[in-house]
Order: sequence, then C-alpha cells, then structure tokens
Amino acid sequence: MIEHRLIERMVALLKKALSRLENKENFNPQFIFDAVDFFRTYADRTHHGKEEDILFEELKNKKISNEHKRIMDELIQEHILARENVKGLLEANEQYVKGDSKEVDKIMGFLKTLVKLYPPHIKKEDTQFFLPIMDYFTEEEQQNMLKKFFEFDRQIIHEKYKGTVEKYEKM
Ligand SMILES: [Fe+2]
Ligand SMILES: [Fe+2]
Repeated sequence: MIEHRLIERMVALLKKALSRLENKENFNPQFIFDAVDFFRTYADRTHHGKEEDILFEELKNKKISNEHKRIMDELIQEHILARENVKGLLEANEQYVKGDSKEVDKIMGFLKTLVKLYPPHIKKEDTQFFLPIMDYFTEEEQQNMLKKFFEFDRQIIHEKYKGTVEKYEKM
C-alpha cells in the first residue's frame, strides 16, 4: 500500500525527534502535536480504517487459513497498541508544554515504542498479508473494494473538519 511509504517517512521523523531528545538537543513540541494529528487522522483513521473497516471486514466473509487469521489478529492488536501509544504521547506532550519537563522521559518512551512498532507491522502487511490474501477475492470483489477505499478516503476530510466545528460549537 502506498500509504505505508508516507507512514515510514513520518516514523523516520519520529526517530530524529527521539535522538534529539536523547542528546538533549532542542526539541519542538509542535512537531509532536503535528505527528499525533498525522497518526490519528492519516495512519489510524484513514489507513488502519480502510484495513479494519473494509479489508478485514470483507475477509470475515471468507474462509481464510489459520495462518492468515493469526496474522490479521496480530495486526489488529498492533493497531490498538499504536493508538494507545499515540494517546500517551499526546498527553505527555500536553503536560510538557504546560511546563512539566519530567514528561520528556515519557515522550521518549512513547516515541521508542512507535518507532519499534511500525516498521515490522508495515513489513508484515506488505510481505506476508496484503498480496496473499487477495487470492481470496475475485477480480470483481477486488475492484469493489477499491471503490470502497476511494469513498472511505473521500469522506475523511469532511469528517475531520466537521469534527473541528462541532468541537468548538460545544464549548
Ligand atoms: Fe496496519
Ligand atoms: Fe498498514
């Protein structure tokens, strides 16, 4: 999936931020806020969303091998772990900008986990999952799934900014 390539580039930026923190160099907390937005809107809602809400859902109607089922369960667990770490990263960063410099250790911990988690997750999907499982689908089913992917992507921008308006309307 092409989206993996952009996620890898963001993970490389997380690595850079982590080594700056480890070397006690200047670090930009706004980058963490932007990275959290990237992981939430792009990696999780848009990308994992298509995997979980469309592809994995369609696979539930197929008789898949135990091995593929095992990998799919692992992938879902890894998505959950990523989500939890992104949430932790956001909370630690919020505390940090409020002046709690001890939160740096937590920020580094969450960054370390994310940097370790994503590359093997993506590799597993790219090399052991997405291609082989296509054999469970007919050409027509694959085309229908692509259409659903496009429609899913199209609605995200509307969902995101509707959410922004609604958040401030409630304040
Ligand atoms: Fe995934
Ligand atoms: Fe993925």
